Amino acid sequence: MSARPLLRIGHPLLLKSAEAVAEFNTPELDSLIQDMLDTMAEADGAGLAANQIGELKRVVVFGFDENPRYPDRDPLPMTILVNPSIQPVGDIMEEDWEGCLSVPGMRGWVPRHKHIIYRAFDPAGSPIEVEAEGFHARVVQHECDHLDGVLYPQRIKDMSKFGYEEELFEKYPDVADNC
Ligand code: NI
Repeated sequence: MSARPLLRIGHPLLLKSAEAVAEFNTPELDSLIQDMLDTMAEADGAGLAANQIGELKRVVVFGFDENPRYPDRDPLPMTILVNPSIQPVGDIMEEDWEGCLSVPGMRGWVPRHKHIIYRAFDPAGSPIEVEAEGFHARVVQHECDHLDGVLYPQRIKDMSKFGYEEELFEKYPDVADNC
């Protein structure tokens, strides 16, 4: 159990679809989840998908109390989702800044569904169903995209609002305070 190296954009595994987890409550699944939690904690991440440590399994983790990368965000409960799926509620899209541990130092202005219901299983195989809005919904959509081999830059509509934090900061001082 330990933090593992994070794959960065350009690595082919980040562009692959992950496979559904077939067996719950196994030492292999528990060990993968622990490595993901350790990796996310070491990197001060708000969330992590298994692809990002090179495992093509449909597992994501997210959550934080206080996060130096997202100082203005309300805490999110620590959550583990196995085989998640997302159902948008309504058709309102919302744009906000987003970053990713696999795209270090950069931020982009990304449209996401404002309101979703997500369903998944916990590591023991019990079903989870949660309704989420705003930042919570954004994090879940970002992490679930990883499981389909999609990185946030692929979602950006206005490429003038994509770049290194330091370069964007003068024009958009809120860039580093947001997801
Ligand atoms: Ni990411």
